[in-house]
Amino acid sequence: MSRKLVTAVAAIFAASAISFSAFAEPSAEDAQQYRVSIMTTLKGHIGAASMIVRGIIADDGHLLAHAEGLKNGVAELHRVFQAGSNVGESEALPVIWEQPEKFAAALEKSRLATAEFAKVVADGGDMAAAGAAFRNVGMSCRGCHDDFRVAH
Ligand code: HEC
Repeated sequence: MSRKLVTAVAAIFAASAISFSAFAEPSAEDAQQYRVSIMTTLKGHIGAASMIVRGIIADDGHLLAHAEGLKNGVAELHRVFQAGSNVGESEALPVIWEQPEKFAAALEKSRLATAEFAKVVADGGDMAAAGAAFRNVGMSCRGCHDDFRVAH
């Protein structure tokens, strides 16, 4: 390795060591904002997927991207409900932290529904099968919101 490269690699390691320690525990406000950002991506993907599933927009291979987006976003939800992060404008109800098992069950339901939807779409299932799997995704979002988010 050239001396220059060694220096560059060392600098990258040093930078990541600093950022890892800085990112260990975000503030409650940042955790809440990050959670809302993830939820907002879910909203975008579910809205786009819905229009394709309903046949308003041609698929052209993009339904899979939205299905994967839903799956990946929901797979991250387990780490965005930091204790104490129902601050400011948060619509997260305290019951999330008071009944963690019930909350985990709602989360798992959504994880399974989004994984199944992505699988059906990836397997090239017909739109009827995709539509049925998609409806389960929507119900899993609503199921959690009904119990764990401020009512609208
Ligand atoms: C396990 C529970 C859970 C699941 C599953 C879930 N959400 Fe949420 N969602 C919440 C909670 C709690 C909030 C309120 C967060 C806050 O305000 O701090 C929220 C907030 C939102 C918001 C409002 C964001 C804003 O602007 O304030 C949207 C949009 C949203 N979720 C979309 C979705 C979609 C779409 C899905 C399904 C693909 C989904 N959510 C799945 C619990 C969940």
